[in-house]
Amino acid sequence: MPVSPKKGSVLAGSMDLGLLRKGAHSPSYFSLLRGMGGQQSELIDFCIPCNPYFPTPEMFERLERNLQTILKYYPSDGDTITAELCTTLGLNPQTVAMGNGSTELITWIDHLLIHDSLATPIPTFGRWTDQPLETDKRVDMFQLPESHDFALDVDAFVHFVRQRGSRVAVICNPNNPDGGYLPRREVIKLLDQLVDLDLVVVDESFIDFVDAEAHTSVADEAAIRPNVIVLKSLGKNFGLHGIRFGYLVANPALAGKVRKVLPKWNLNAFAEVVVFLLKQHREEYHRSLELFIQDRRMMIQQLAALPGLTVFASQGNFVLVKLPDGKDGVQLRDFLFAEHGIYVRECGNKLGSSSRFLRFVVRPQQDVRLLLTGLHAFLYGASGDALASVSDWRGSYEQDSWRFAPPGNDVSSVASLGQARHRKR
Ligand SMILES: Cc1ncc(COP(=O)(O)O)c(C=O)c1O
Repeated sequence: MPVSPKKGSVLAGSMDLGLLRKGAHSPSYFSLLRGMGGQQSELIDFCIPCNPYFPTPEMFERLERNLQTILKYYPSDGDTITAELCTTLGLNPQTVAMGNGSTELITWIDHLLIHDSLATPIPTFGRWTDQPLETDKRVDMFQLPESHDFALDVDAFVHFVRQRGSRVAVICNPNNPDGGYLPRREVIKLLDQLVDLDLVVVDESFIDFVDAEAHTSVADEAAIRPNVIVLKSLGKNFGLHGIRFGYLVANPALAGKVRKVLPKWNLNAFAEVVVFLLKQHREEYHRSLELFIQDRRMMIQQLAALPGLTVFASQGNFVLVKLPDGKDGVQLRDFLFAEHGIYVRECGNKLGSSSRFLRFVVRPQQDVRLLLTGLHAFLYGASGDALASVSDWRGSYEQDSWRFAPPGNDVSSVASLGQARHRKR
């Protein structure tokens, strides 16, 4: 149904909100822009989880300057680009396969290594349930308990895998959409207990956003174990979803099996140029994560201050919230889109979730203020300055900047985002 935004709405044209309701995944930003008649600057994207601080403007300028070369010439083959990525990340190329987005690798993992059944906690990233279902595998879904803030209990999951007789297990760490993080020692416990399975996949696509502990990834374990793959998207942490690049780490035989089926030029020239740029921009990348972590703490605290909203502490670059009784996520999503030009992920079409849940990507403060205003209007019927409801924070913002000064640096009440997740209200 086409929507004609009310007077004062940030969306000037009319937009078919049916676009937001199609399929298991969110519509692409490009189809939304086309649906809006190309008003790019109007839409604030709280849906697609992407690092807002990387690449830097200088890196983008460099890409722009090289656009013609990038588009006109063949990239190097996948092995050359993979070797460079491995040098930068300190990985052994024999243990790595690089794909055109980690979704390409999920597809090949399914085709090559999942023979009859897979167990995974839900809610989770949709391709981990949909891909094996599309190829007629049995998917054993382990419901994460909302009553425990969607935390994954390793013993309970292993028990479930045994009961169902699943041959493959997949976890996302941190998990999408709740942002729950399983400490490294717990992941290793899981790998130890499931050593007899055909395969255990740990999808670490959001792991660079974790600040709960210093040593997070189990990629080093994957490289020396018989049945473990660690998967990593690069679009999220490097802020470049359009490029489509990701990789997996596994023992050389397993990684080689996947590498062998990948087309020679499966990675494009944008991926090549960015991979070769990364080494020179490590510092900017680390700085981007520091800024992001401040934003996440701040945003969780602000959301938790909205009466009636349940906020789940997250180690991902998004925050899951639950609406109060009687409020519907589809209505909120459509309202934010039509009235505030804000695009959010309503989670009703995620298995194991419902339309009371929404996922908001962590964004700089200037955007969060607009989100809070929209939420305030929807939840309490009042328009105006949502920051009034988070008065503790007033005066702490440097109003015209995305930088901020947390009051007394005391964000501990909400931001003790360590191993455990805390329900905020
Ligand atoms: C947990 C998880 N893994 C993998 C992906 C796919 O990432 P890519 O863009 O690299 O295909 C997503 C996308 O949201 C995700 O949430």
